[in-house]
Parts: sequence; C-alpha cells; structure tokens
Amino acid sequence: MGMHFDEKKQTFSIDTANSTYQFQVDRHGFLLHLYYGKKISGNADYLLKYLDRGFSGNPACLINDRTFSMDVLPQELPVWGSGDFRSPAFVVEKEDGTRSVDLKYVTYQIRKGKYSLPGLPAVYVSDEEATEAETLEIVLEDSVLSLEVDLLYGVLPKLDIITRAIQIKNKGADIVYLDKLMPASLDFITGDYDLITFHGRHTMERLMQRVPINHLSQRIGSRRGASSHQFNPMLIAAKPETTDFFGDCYAMEFVYSGGFQAEALKDQFGTTRVQMGLQEEGFHYSVAFGETFTSPEVILSFSRDGFDRLSHNLHDVIRQHICRGAYQYQPRPVLVNSWEGSLCNITRDSLLSLAREGKEIGLDMLVVDDGWFGNRDDDNTSLGDWYANEEKLGGSLAQLITDVNRIGLKFGIWMEPEMISEKSHLYEMHPDWALQIPGRIPIRGRNQLVLDFSRKDVRDYIYDRICDILDSGNIEYLKWDYNRSIYDVYSEGVTHQGRVLYDYMLGLYEVLEKLVNRYPHVLIEGCSGGGGRYDAGMLYYTPQIWTSDNTDPIDRMLIQYGTSFGYPASTMAAHVSKSPNEQTGRVTPIQTRVIAAMYGSFGFELDLSLLTKEEKKAAGEEVKKYHRLERLITDGRYYRLSDPAKDKFCAWSFVSRDESEALVNAVVLKLQSNDELFYVRPKGLKPERVYKEINTGECYDSDLLMSAGLPLPKETGEHRAYQFHFILQQ
Ligand code: GLA
Repeated sequence: MGMHFDEKKQTFSIDTANSTYQFQVDRHGFLLHLYYGKKISGNADYLLKYLDRGFSGNPACLINDRTFSMDVLPQELPVWGSGDFRSPAFVVEKEDGTRSVDLKYVTYQIRKGKYSLPGLPAVYVSDEEATEAETLEIVLEDSVLSLEVDLLYGVLPKLDIITRAIQIKNKGADIVYLDKLMPASLDFITGDYDLITFHGRHTMERLMQRVPINHLSQRIGSRRGASSHQFNPMLIAAKPETTDFFGDCYAMEFVYSGGFQAEALKDQFGTTRVQMGLQEEGFHYSVAFGETFTSPEVILSFSRDGFDRLSHNLHDVIRQHICRGAYQYQPRPVLVNSWEGSLCNITRDSLLSLAREGKEIGLDMLVVDDGWFGNRDDDNTSLGDWYANEEKLGGSLAQLITDVNRIGLKFGIWMEPEMISEKSHLYEMHPDWALQIPGRIPIRGRNQLVLDFSRKDVRDYIYDRICDILDSGNIEYLKWDYNRSIYDVYSEGVTHQGRVLYDYMLGLYEVLEKLVNRYPHVLIEGCSGGGGRYDAGMLYYTPQIWTSDNTDPIDRMLIQYGTSFGYPASTMAAHVSKSPNEQTGRVTPIQTRVIAAMYGSFGFELDLSLLTKEEKKAAGEEVKKYHRLERLITDGRYYRLSDPAKDKFCAWSFVSRDESEALVNAVVLKLQSNDELFYVRPKGLKPERVYKEINTGECYDSDLLMSAGLPLPKETGEHRAYQFHFILQQ
C-alpha cells in the first residue's frame, strides 16, 4: 500500500487497500495517466498505443513524430495549448491574451502524512494516522511562462481514498491569469461508464440522476458563488452494470463551497474524461511574480463492490478526516428550532414557552432562529445589525440565555453573517461593503446583498460581531446561514476582479477557521436556504448541515437518499415538523415524521404547543429512543435498501460496525388499494446467524432476511413508516 515510484518504468503508483492509481512520466517529460481502478500489481503502460491520427498534432519537442499526440494520449493534467482539444484541466492566459501552457516533469517527493492546503479546508489525518497517510508531490514546470505547477496527491490507504490538489507558483516577471483549474481530471482509456450526479433546487436538493457518458459533453456545476442547491459538488462514474452492491465505481467530491464545475465526455477515440474543479466563468485569477495559488482539493475513491462501499469510503473520510471539533463524534443535542413555528415573530414568551415544552419532551436545546436582532420582523431588513432586539427579547440576550439554561435547555442561535440588508445601520455606514458593481443597480436575492468577504476589514468587523454575540452568554450552537446567490461581482479590495469569487471563499474559510479555534465547544451547523451549501468544504467547519428547508418527510426521502451517496448521516440535520407540512401541505403521521428525521442529527421544528397530549407523550418516547439509537445511526454503516425514485417505499438501515445490531427503517411513499406486499431486504448482517427484532421478539435467519426480506405490515393510511431493530443472537 502507499505511494511508489518505479525508476525503471518512470511510473508513479498510489495503492490503497483495494485500488491502484497509476501515471507515468513519459520519455519526453509529459505526465500520462495510465490507470485507476481495482488494485493491480503490474504496470499499465502497455495500455498506451502510439498512432498517427489525423488532425491530432504533435508537441513541439518531438519535431515531427506523428505517432505522439496529446490529443489522443491519456493525460494526468490536460492543459490548454498542448495539442489536446478535449476539455482542459488547466488554462493560463498572459496579459496579452495568449493562452498556452507546456508543462514538463521536474521532480517528485513522497513523504509521510497528508499535505494540508493553506487557507483551505482539506482532508486531514491525526498524528497516529500520519504514518499511514502519504503525500506525493510532483513538480512540473513551464519554462516559457516561468510557472511551477505542483500536483499534490494524498492517500488514506485503508479508506481507499486519494486526494488531488494543485499549487501554481509564478516565478517569472509577467503576471498570468488562471482561467480554468480542475484539480481532478481522470482519463479512462477504455470502457463504458455512467455518470451519476445530484441536482436539485431550493427545498428539493440532491436528486440523483444516472445517465450514460457518451460523446456529448455533460457538465454540472454552480455559477452561484456557492456550491448550490442546483448541483452538488459530488459525482460518481460507474460501469453500466454497477449497482449498490456490485461493480466498479468512482467518486469525486470537491472540498470547496464556492462555484464549481464537473464534466464528463467520451472522446473521439473512446477515452472517457471526467473532471472536477473550479467554476470557469467568473474565475480569472491573477497570479503575479512570487505569488502562489493553491486550489481546493478533490476527494477520489474507487469501489469494486458498488455504491454502498463507495459511500462508506466517503462517509468515513468525511466523518473522520473532514469534520472536526468537539462534536465530531459526540452525540449532537436534540434541539427545537423556532423557525417553522414562529418565523421572525418570536418573543421572549414564545421562546421560553417553546423551551419549556421542549424540556417536557426531553429535548436538549432551544435554537433561536431568525428574528432576534436589529429590526428583523421579516426578511427584508437588518442583516448586518448583529445586536439583540431587546424589546422583542424582553431584555438582554444574556438574560434570555440564562432563562433558557434555567429551564434546563442549552441555547443556540441563528446568524447569517455573510449578508447585509440595505435597510440596516451597517449598510448606512458601509454601502461599499456589499458586493455590487459601480454604476449598476445590484440584483437582490431575498431582498438582501452579499457582504464582500474578500475584504479583510469586512471580515474582521463581522468576526468581532459574531464573537460579541457568542461571548454574551452560554451559547453552545450557531446556525450559520447563507440565503442568496452572488450576482454582482466587484470588490474595492482586489487587484483584479477575476479574483473576487475565490478570495471570497478564502475569506469565509478564514472567519470560520478563527471561530472554530476560538469556540471549539460551540457546534456550528451549516445552512444555506437548507442544503444550498452542502459540501465537504463547509463540513470542515460545521460538522452538520441543515439538509433542506423542506421538512416534508416524504420529499425528505429523496433528498436524504441523494445526500447519502456522498455524506454520512451525522452531517444531515433532520427535524420533525408540523402536519400538514409547511412546504407541501402534506399530511403525515407523527411516526413517519420522526422516522424520517432519525436519518441524522435529530430535532424538532414546530410550535410544540400544537401537539396533542398523546403526540407529546409519543414525541417524548421518540426522543428517548433516539438517544438510545443515535450511536447506531451516526457510527453505524449506512445502507440504502430501496430506490425512492422508483420504488413505492423508501428503506434504509444502520448496522453497527460489529454487525451485532441493525436499525431498519421504511417509509411507504405510495399507497394503492390491494397492492403487492413490500419486502425490505436488510444488508450487512452477519451471514448464517439469527437476529431478533426487539419490538416483536421475533427471530429471523439473517440470510433469509437479506435474500427474501421482511414484509412491511399491510395497513391502510397514507405514508406509514416502520422501524425494526434487530439484535444478533448468540
Ligand atoms: C433559511 C434557513 C431556514 C431559516 C431561515 C431564516 O431559509 O434555511 O432554516 O433559518 O433561513 O430566515
């Protein structure tokens, strides 16, 4: 396992427990990709064939060897200007508009431990694990541009995880502009692949789509300045026959929260190129002499056992090597959030009564959502004025926190620090702090503007305001929201406007990094109109994210199912809300809402006083049950047991790592009269053993359960849900 350089063959191999990644420094100093897939021990360079192909030009250094063309050969970092007309991963422009790069291999280094990236979130390893993780750094150079390009590879061998990032150092006198940068670009020399992506919209995020990769270029991404609801920065390339538990598949997951793009195409000679990196449009990054640009990294993983295994690899890397802080492994507080129940119409009385009701059903925390600051009576005003509205709160924030703590609940608070309302004191004082283009009226989103986080003075001010709030009392949770896209890109603070969107993200990460260091015990929950910034970049600072503004348990099945491909359950905040549901008007039983919310970080989001006595009692029991089950949910292996886009039910399970316990969940999505029975087939149990379902006391043969399944009860009534808890018998 690990990283090796074969001197004779000039080949780099990165081996994990079950995969090999290989590329070669060819005889002309170009880096050619050879192979990524099932673990191999041989050298894959025989796969390369050198042929004379019409209209595929030959690099200058070869004089006239017509059999060598970058247009045909698989590339490790395809650059624009090399003769490769497929989608480049790296485009550089000079001041005069010339675009051309010619990178040659210089040297390499393999070292213990995983590289980190200055100012950016990245996969990290603890000291003990550093001996297993390794870093490969390849130095390339363009002697004409005096550019050094360092390719960084990290490996976590046991998890089948490889990471890629790029650093660009300008060593020449002339400024250059980076116009495109895709830290991960894979060329599969042969084979057919499907592309699996996760698209969506506000309140309906991460819906899975699977299509063949063919000769049409297929591109996903976000131009919104955030990773977005529209596409998640995660994709899977899979052999057409691959299923949840069988077949080859590859994941790419971007550790970045800004605009991104990913592309897949089968080229004219049958090679499939899949790439992921920064959004091209809006990225024109100037790098002057002496400056270094560091890209975010892409996580890669390979599974030969289908999507379940691929997801497990991604879940482990996110939970163990991206998420940080006191709450990385700790049970999260079960909270009640004020938003859906009260919107901005909160008062001291309403909050304290919500806290009391919450205490009654055994909750751990009250989260005061939007509406507690400035003159925020609705969402048109006051963002930026991070001062408690003492009139509304009936006193100081400190007093409210003390009173909530006295009731026996922890206290959490909502903020949207990157935003500014034009109706605010902050805007009156600093209109130039909002991103807007001089001479143009800015585009509003939710009637608010975005603060220019690429500017240090802006960041420092906001950071101080957040600290003042967090220091004002015993605040143990912060919901960090972000509720619009970026349209008007102009900053007073940069040398070139093409830098702004990227510098904005670096600014955001700087503030978050300072906060997690200063408040290691505060749980920060990420949010962007629900799951509009649900990515591995945010998860480095916020170990959980509000999965969606849609709390309808039936819609949530699709959203949580899609999310599960790339992100562990512990990162998904899911709440029980009222019925009929606020977003869809759908009526669902409380049991269904509870089971749907036990998908991840559990909580409530409704006016608890609306629950009947019986419902309250049931809710209290469910909270107790969640506390008993939460380790199984957050630390167990997650399995998808149906496809909610096709099946009439959604089923999923959590199996403890020692396979001694399994929680199987099912929500009926579609009810028809006199329908067939729905059989749920658990996965991941120990074969040839007996499991007891503890609610009924029934015992089952594990192989029978896994092959034939368990019939769901045949009941009338829309959207029923069921939970089965299996315990291994000795
Ligand atoms: C966003 C969030 C919600 C809530 C509101 C408050 O939409 O996703 O959960 O916090 O903002 O304005």
